[in-house]
Amino acid sequence: MKTLIKNGRIITAVDDYFGDILIEGETISMIGKELTMEVDKIIDAKGKLVIPGGIDAHTHMDMPFGGTTSADDFESGTLAAAHGGTTTIVDFAIQTKGQSIIEALDIWHKKAAGKTAIDYSFHMIVTDLPHERTSELKRLINNEGVTSFKLFMAYPGVLLVDDATIYRAMSLASDQGAMICMHAENGVVINEIIDQALKAGKTAPKYHALTRPTKAESEGVNRAIAIAEMAGSPVYIVHLSCYDALKKVQEARDLGVNVFAETCPQYLFLDQSYYDKDDFEGAKYVMTPALREKWNQNELWTGLRMNDLQVVSTDHCPFCFKDQKQLGKDDFSKIPNGGPGVENRMSLIYNGGVVGNRISVNRFVEITSTNPAKIFGLFPKKGTIAVGSDADIVIFDADKKVTISAATHHMRVDYSCYEGFEVQGVAETVISRGKVVIDNGKYTGKAGDGNFVKRSRINLNYGQATEVRREMAHSGS
Ligand code: URP
Ligand code: ZN
Ligand code: ZN
Repeated sequence: MKTLIKNGRIITAVDDYFGDILIEGETISMIGKELTMEVDKIIDAKGKLVIPGGIDAHTHMDMPFGGTTSADDFESGTLAAAHGGTTTIVDFAIQTKGQSIIEALDIWHKKAAGKTAIDYSFHMIVTDLPHERTSELKRLINNEGVTSFKLFMAYPGVLLVDDATIYRAMSLASDQGAMICMHAENGVVINEIIDQALKAGKTAPKYHALTRPTKAESEGVNRAIAIAEMAGSPVYIVHLSCYDALKKVQEARDLGVNVFAETCPQYLFLDQSYYDKDDFEGAKYVMTPALREKWNQNELWTGLRMNDLQVVSTDHCPFCFKDQKQLGKDDFSKIPNGGPGVENRMSLIYNGGVVGNRISVNRFVEITSTNPAKIFGLFPKKGTIAVGSDADIVIFDADKKVTISAATHHMRVDYSCYEGFEVQGVAETVISRGKVVIDNGKYTGKAGDGNFVKRSRINLNYGQATEVRREMAHSGS
């Protein structure tokens, strides 16, 4: 199958030009001006942006959590992602305590295989790493294409690991070329604060935020960076939510430490006041870290502009309001933590970032696609438009406006965190490894179109960005 995308404005993290793209099979085979060869299909992208497919490096499909399971499975969640212009997700497999890490990976392979609309990969959540299991991590890195691991400083008794385990995993990551993703929040102190609140009869959703102070997050970030330095490994802070935490990342990057961080749309567009909604609606926004005071949003945008934050992922972890969030009706600590967003990320960030004059269109591509590809071993197969790269391409209508609503979204969840938000910038046609899976807004793919992608070891030369940050600061881009 040969497809020609004609007349589009091709945007990568560094390029911005008009041209045509020839796709042969699953990859890009030629880029040029006014290409005229015979093909099976021509897509006219005149007036549109042609960008690399989005990469969402943080999703939780079909995840058992908080006494229930996230509402999107790999089929519904990846279909929704495709609608939003995302062509690859990196989801999280979970090792339960005492379980073999190989067995855990196998379980997640079975959950996803044959179901996805787009390509997918896995990080591994490690909850238990005695010395005898370190060989399992090596096998994941060297044979299974799983080159990143998430560790939790939060959720004691469930997912939390101690500092010795963190150091052990980071040492191994340093040795083997893997990345440690850190949920950086001091969960032990947070649990004490939660106990105090509940004893005082404070049970409403707003106490989710009031019992998770920003200091608990910045302490976690500080500790994660310090342990990474001792182990000589890189560290990637997930779902960074606030200025207190960002400051720790900034300080370390200024000293040349290999710390990377993502934030998420919820921290850029929503704030703590959402917990005050009537009729338990605040529960819709119970996610971890909690939404913060609004002034943090500007700081996070600055962090994205200055490259202290390199990635925007969603932490998509949806629970239905009616059936699942109600588990915490009488006790905020029992509300399943997480919210939906995989479908909305590209439009929200384009609208808030590029239309909102906070970031360039190249930076938009970089933080939604190129950087996650580079940081997690997918580049240059994914994350750019180049000869030889996978033909994961979005024809993006930068002028079109839509209103986000649960009534029209494709995520299997009964509310939207962004209900009524008008956004400019919409994925019109989405190509996943050469196949059109969204055609003018209509799904044309099928479950099983997506493949598992083995990722390479982490190349720290990508994203080693202290100098870049200074250059960007001077050029004002
Ligand atoms: O609230 C959240 N973030 N739920 C998903 C689990 C996690 O910590 O990423
Ligand atoms: Zn987390
Ligand atoms: Zn998460």
